Amino acid sequence: MASKIVGLGMHAPPKKLTNHDLEKMVETSDSWILERTGIRSRRIADPGGANSDLALIASKRALADAGVRPEDIDLIVVGTCTADMPLPSTACFLQMKLGARNACAMDVNAACSGFLYSLSVADALIRAGRGKKALVLGSEVLSSIVDYTDRSTCILFGDGAGAAVLAECAEGEGILSCHLQSDGGLWELIHCPGPGTVNPLTPDLISRRMMYLRMSGNETFKHAVTKMADVAMKALSENGFGIDDVALFIPHQANLRIINAVGKRLGVPPDRVFVNLEQYGNTSAASIPIALSEAKAQGRIMPGDLALLVAFGAGLTWASALIRM
Ligand code: ACO
Repeated sequence: MASKIVGLGMHAPPKKLTNHDLEKMVETSDSWILERTGIRSRRIADPGGANSDLALIASKRALADAGVRPEDIDLIVVGTCTADMPLPSTACFLQMKLGARNACAMDVNAACSGFLYSLSVADALIRAGRGKKALVLGSEVLSSIVDYTDRSTCILFGDGAGAAVLAECAEGEGILSCHLQSDGGLWELIHCPGPGTVNPLTPDLISRRMMYLRMSGNETFKHAVTKMADVAMKALSENGFGIDDVALFIPHQANLRIINAVGKRLGVPPDRVFVNLEQYGNTSAASIPIALSEAKAQGRIMPGDLALLVAFGAGLTWASALIRM
């Protein structure tokens, strides 16, 4: 057996943080942000808002779209780097809130590649006969680790959740392949130093603002372009397809210039590239399932179409999935 996506849902908190709002917080401008990133605004959860609450709304929408009950779910995998608590997993909180009492639940942390890593885990478990139906999420409250005094990062990130319901299908349908890659040697490019075992929670950690995300934007940019293009091409070549077979290319929504550069390398026409980062910014693991969900709702992707999904994030991690909708 293989697995296919039978339902999609997303949720973004209603509160908007616009470029004009950020102009009042750090030395930046709407025109700089728009020109360098393509982002106009992002959605922000209320302070203390649980990741699992965003995930819950997205999950209910995906289950309704699939016509599947929570108790029919065998497996919940949440891709996130901003969990509700260090333990238990956000997936366990989601299971409780959803009433998915027959599921096993786990988180996968692959930063912005978290949804595709989670999709791959769920697909592999279904293929191995460990369950028939899975709920897979990318869900983040990035605002909880963003330093709103650092203009090079605070302009980029937003909060949100996207969910997909997977069900068994015949081989050759649904998820045709997942390719996952990492290079831990490049961890320093994007990281959040603490609190953790290396940098425990101390007054010093707080005074040095080490609980916030740090990124070498320029260096990360170059890796994002080459690695996303490479792993996208791998998905196509290993399945015997060309870029012209792809109805919609859905890249991680980090920066419009990255998306355009990757699209150019792949030779995909702009009208077959899905972009929504103008409204949401970079929602890390949530970006691809939110985009996929919106693409379906907007009729940009129809049953039988081939979708190429590509992610990139901290780790470094990067990944692709080729899906027959
Ligand atoms: N407003 C105004 N000026 C700014 C801002 C800002 N918000 N931020 C930086 N600048 C300045 C810098 O200080 C620098 O000034 P200087 O030349 O006087 O030193 C200048 O703008 C250029 O800075 P760069 O960092 O070179 O700008 P760049 O064009 O690279 O854009 C950005 C920065 C948007 C962060 C870009 O590098 C980027 O998008 N990187 C990739 C992000 C990404 O893909 N992350 C992966 C996923 S994240 C995850 O996994 C959680």
